[in-house]
Amino acid sequence: MLNELAQLHALCFPHKPWAASDFADLKKSGCDIIASEHGFIVWRVVADQAEIITIGVHPDARQTGIASAMLVLAESDAKTRGANKMFLEVAENNRPARAMYEKNGYTQIGVRPKYYDGVDAILMEKNI
Ligand SMILES: CC(C)(COP(=O)(O)OP(=O)(O)OC[C@H]1O[C@@H](n2cnc3c(N)ncnc32)[C@H](O)[C@@H]1OP(=O)(O)O)[C@@H](O)C(=O)NCCC(=O)NCCS
Repeated sequence: MLNELAQLHALCFPHKPWAASDFADLKKSGCDIIASEHGFIVWRVVADQAEIITIGVHPDARQTGIASAMLVLAESDAKTRGANKMFLEVAENNRPARAMYEKNGYTQIGVRPKYYDGVDAILMEKNI
């Protein structure tokens, strides 16, 4: 399963693919993962805060609501476990992802300059 997940991750992030062992390490460190052939989301809950670690949808399945649906599941799980805020970071030039997060109620709270190989990271949060 983690091998298929790594293959899908490579389709979503061709310049920074993660290995199956990276996902195994994330699970060991307490992250939660939902994955199917269409997409994946990884999140972490720590006390009253939660964080989206990564999210991706197969290129052939995009703009059909899959990422939004996975976000709802992660937010719901985090809330059930006591979190009241979800945080994430997204590259400033990743327009599809920023549009998707904004549509799902996330707002910008800061910037980490040159965080991704010279590209700014936008910090976003949502009350859940
Ligand atoms: C970002 C990503 C996860 C979005 O997945 P998705 O399943 O296509 O997103 P959704 O279908 O839930 O989109 C919800 C909304 O986001 C916006 N959106 C999504 N893709 C968009 C695009 N290419 N251009 C403009 N807006 C977009 C739209 O408002 C969309 O609603 P609409 O379809 O009703 O107009 C997907 O494009 C992806 O896997 N990208 C590569 C990996 C990545 O960048 N991950 C995010 C890292 S922070």
